[in-house]
Parts: sequence; C-alpha cells; structure tokens
Amino acid sequence: MSRLPPIKVTVYPYECDAYGHLNEAAYLTLFERARWEALAQGPGADIFVRHKVWPAVRKATIEFLVPAFPGDVLSVDLRLEKLGRTSVELRQSAKRVADGVLLAEAHLVFVMVDGKGSPVAIPEEVAAVFGGRVSTLPGEMVRYDVGQVTLAADVRGDGPALLLVHGFPLDRSLWAHQVATLAGWRRIAPDLRGLGATVAPDDDYSIAAYADDLIGLLDRLRVSRAVVAGLSMGGYVAFELVRRYRDRVAGLILCDTRADADGPESRASRDTLIAVAKEQGAGVVAERLLPRVLGRTTQLTQPHLVEQVREMMTRAPVAGVVGALRAMKERPDSTPLLPSIGVPTLVVVGQEDEMTPPALAKAMTNAIPSAAMTVIHGAGHLSPLEAPTAVSRVLAEFLEHVRDSVG
Ligand code: MLT
Repeated sequence: MSRLPPIKVTVYPYECDAYGHLNEAAYLTLFERARWEALAQGPGADIFVRHKVWPAVRKATIEFLVPAFPGDVLSVDLRLEKLGRTSVELRQSAKRVADGVLLAEAHLVFVMVDGKGSPVAIPEEVAAVFGGRVSTLPGEMVRYDVGQVTLAADVRGDGPALLLVHGFPLDRSLWAHQVATLAGWRRIAPDLRGLGATVAPDDDYSIAAYADDLIGLLDRLRVSRAVVAGLSMGGYVAFELVRRYRDRVAGLILCDTRADADGPESRASRDTLIAVAKEQGAGVVAERLLPRVLGRTTQLTQPHLVEQVREMMTRAPVAGVVGALRAMKERPDSTPLLPSIGVPTLVVVGQEDEMTPPALAKAMTNAIPSAAMTVIHGAGHLSPLEAPTAVSRVLAEFLEHVRDSVG
C-alpha cells in the first residue's frame, strides 16, 4: 500500500481539448501534478534530490474510461504494482469526487537513475514511500544479552547511532517506519524489558533499569554515543539516560512525552490500571488506553492502525505492563534536568495528543536551551505511527543538522 495521500485536482478549461475534455497529454500532466503534490504532502518533493537519484519514466500508458470536463474535481490515488531493485511500477487512478466514478487509470514504469542517467538501486526511504519494504521483517530482529535480561532489537543501517525507545505498553514496531527509512544512520530499536519480544521478568522494573538495559545494549553494539529518541515512556527513559549517562547522549528527540513526575491523581490511576491488568489482562488495558493514545483523525481515518495498536497492546505480557506502570508511577521529576540539557534537542508532538498536549511540549521546549519543537498535524500521542512519513521527515532533517556533532 502506498504511503502517499490521495490528491484532489481540479480540471481547468485550458487543459481540455477542442471537445472540452481531458486528452491524453493533459492526463499525463495531471497525473504527474498529483504525484508531486502527494510527495510534497508526504515525505517532501525533494526526496529524490536528497538521495541524489531521479525517477526516469520508461513507460506510461493511460486507459480512458469516462470523459472528464472542466470544473470536475478528481481524486487521484497512487498504488505500487511492483518494486524491483532499480525500477518501480505504479498505477494511478482518477475518480470524479462528485460521484466516485473511475475516469482514467495510468500505468507507469520508472527506473531510478543517478546524475549520469545510469540505473541505481532504489533508496530505502523512496521504496518505503511507495509502499515497499516498510515493515521490519521478523528475520531482522536480533537478541542481545545485556546482563540481567536479553533484549530483542532491530538494528539496521550504518552511520552514527540513533536509539529509538518506544512507549507504553508498546514495542519496537512503533518505530518501524523510522527504522526502515532513516538511511545514513545506524537505527537501533529495542523492545524494553517486559514488552514486545524481550523477556518479562516478574519484577525489577524501573526507569533506571530500562536505562541500564539500553546502555548494556549500546555497549554490546560498541556504540559510544547515540542520538536518543524516546516516545512518552521512552522519553522518561531518555531523561534517565541524560541524568546518569550524559556522555552517551549525543542528541535528543523527545516525542509526545513530558518531564514532570506523576501527581497524586495519575499515581492513583496507575494503581487502578495495575489492578485491571492483573485481574483482566492486557486486552482490557488496551481498550482503556486506545481512545486516548490515538488522535481523533487517526481513529476516524485509519481503522487498520487502530487495530495494529490494539494488537500491539494486547500482546504485551501482564508482568511487563504491571512493571512499566510501577516504573512510571515511581519515576523522578525530570523538570530540574531540562535547563542543563546541552545537546541538540528536538521536541515532536502530535497536534491531537491529549496525553502530552502541544502546550505541555512547548513549555518543555522552552525550558531546554536551544531545543526546537515540531507539531505533527493530524496525529495523536503515537505520532511516529500515526503520521510516519511526516515524523520520519522531521527526524531526518534534525539528524542531518546534528550529524557532525554525533561523531
Ligand atoms: C506512554 O505512551 O508511554 C504512556 O502514555 C506514558 C504514561 O502513561 O505516562
């Protein structure tokens, strides 16, 4: 499935032939316009320039089904037909918005070329945008013994290290798009103890223990410094890494998270959720959390994603869920730490995040010297999953900016 949004285009009179309808040349232009618009709204129209490649058209055919006239508004969809090493086949269809009638379809074959016109391998990010190779394949997970526990992790790519820490009660698949696309970085996405495919001890859960496990993992991978991205509970772990392992943190990406500790009300609701998890299981915890973690746009427009998150939360081991709730309940206040953060920091927040809303993210950004903040439109608390291309894009820009300081 393509990750590019459908695009609405209006048919203008000057695009139509003497009989008043869109002819083949005009359709080629219209389909091309829709592709660039979709890229601009998704990963950025500069995606090819960024990777120093260009998609050269090898074949383009248009099938006319029903005429289109000036003033018609068309919805143009793009889907991947075939992904080769250097070539990609796409199909675009144009439907009339007024009645949903399919008007025309284009079948296009592109070959990726370099500056001299020679075919080159399609970069990972480009393949992911068209719908290829997005998910992390199970075979790519590796287990690392880091002392007390064995952590499951996806480790991909070469370059400076980027450690991606998931939230509660989630797993490393939260970062699947970023692991697939942030080329030029060594992406390390572990499952925290008790969650995902990492073992779930009965006890010994704390934010400090999560941080120690991650340092063990970096040691195993011989990584001395990493940019640390943490979502929500992953952000609490990122703060702990700054507090106790400052030299290992080369930059921070604080995603949908907060610095303060739990107040009395939050602590009480942690206790309630612990009881629910123990008595009724992770599935019931998932049902309670789902309406709050996903933004309203996602809940309305991405039913498959709602299912994906429900499944992810439901498969979390109860011991890991209870352990994480206790760890979060006991976590220290990281607000005093904020003015001392000296590394480049990016704060990312979903516009519809109700758990850690943009106003809270703004206050956190203001307290960290030279931090910047980006709001992700149409996303809630799980922005890397809800708006993967937008988040990967802002992360890619930030990472490019800090690359030299990571060393
Ligand atoms: C998370 O997404 O990790 C949780 O919402 C964090 C929390 O409950 O404090």
